[in-house]
Amino acid sequence: MPVLGFGTLIPDAAATISATRDALEAGFRHFDCAERYRNESQVGEALQTGLAAGGIAREDIFVTTKLWNTNHRPERVEPACRASLARLGLDYLDLYLIHTPFAFQPGDDQDPRDQNGHIIYDDSVTLLETWGAMESLVDSGRCRAIGLSDIGLKELLPIYESARIKPAVVQVEAHPYLPETELLEFCKEKDIVFLAFAPLGHGIRPGPLEDPVVSAIAARVGKTPAQVLLAWAVQRGTALLTTPRTAARARENFNISALPEDALDQINRIQTRQRLNAVVKTGSPGFIPQGR
Ligand SMILES: NC(=O)c1ccc[n+]([C@@H]2O[C@H](COP(=O)([O-])OP(=O)(O)OC[C@H]3O[C@@H](n4cnc5c(N)ncnc54)[C@H](OP(=O)(O)O)[C@@H]3O)[C@@H](O)[C@H]2O)c1
Repeated sequence: MPVLGFGTLIPDAAATISATRDALEAGFRHFDCAERYRNESQVGEALQTGLAAGGIAREDIFVTTKLWNTNHRPERVEPACRASLARLGLDYLDLYLIHTPFAFQPGDDQDPRDQNGHIIYDDSVTLLETWGAMESLVDSGRCRAIGLSDIGLKELLPIYESARIKPAVVQVEAHPYLPETELLEFCKEKDIVFLAFAPLGHGIRPGPLEDPVVSAIAARVGKTPAQVLLAWAVQRGTALLTTPRTAARARENFNISALPEDALDQINRIQTRQRLNAVVKTGSPGFIPQGR
């Protein structure tokens, strides 16, 4: 998996196409998608035209997508994967993730709610049962690897211990305000890729992008705060996902270089702690466009 990943959580269809093309042109070869983002078709379209225009082979890119919460029942997993593949215009996935450990009421409504506005969960399926169906996708060759997202160490451990095919990747929020060190150490020990989303803190300000330690390092090494945060993520041993929406930002976010050791130490000593995305607590995504 290329460590620098381009995330496709972009609300607008036209912007999805242009940003994906720009990311490919800037050098990104790892694309993170999800059924829930409702734009797999646009990502697929941008990839098909981008690969053809750039003479890039399918094998040279790494494409991930994610199984949504309403498809956790084992019999729904393969059809959901097939549907994602059809939208993306691909015949295999490099990585398929269970988007969150929360099963929602199955059906076409991705956000099932009761009359009080509470999410309707599905208690009739366990995460391990869903994982079993994910393993079958590896057996059939539809997916090269499988993993989990928005999961903590406590929920990951039983899956890791019981799984026939171990999770290859864990995708979680991580940045200097949420380093997730314990999970990272576990992943390193077990050879699981720790894939950080929101490495720029979702772009929220104030946030890691405006942290005075990060800004001072950026000025010292002649890079932007975004480049400093992305370099820190790579140097601590994680892969990452970032979502530049313009060609200039795609080039900026791809053009990172190693920070000096003392800069890494300074960032590791930042004391602020902040989780920005509550999806890990409920399975309900914090940053998804609702209306389409
Ligand atoms: N598993 C999950 O539950 C989950 C949850 C969230 C995200 N993800 C995945 O992770 C990906 C990345 O997450 P993210 O979008 O939060 O990543 P991010 O890169 O931390 O944040 C993106 C935000 O940062 C801004 N930005 C990007 N490059 C910048 C730069 N060079 N300088 C200043 N600001 C910059 C963007 O601003 P503009 O909008 O102004 O360009 C955007 O608002 C998503 O696309 C998705 O694939 C997964």
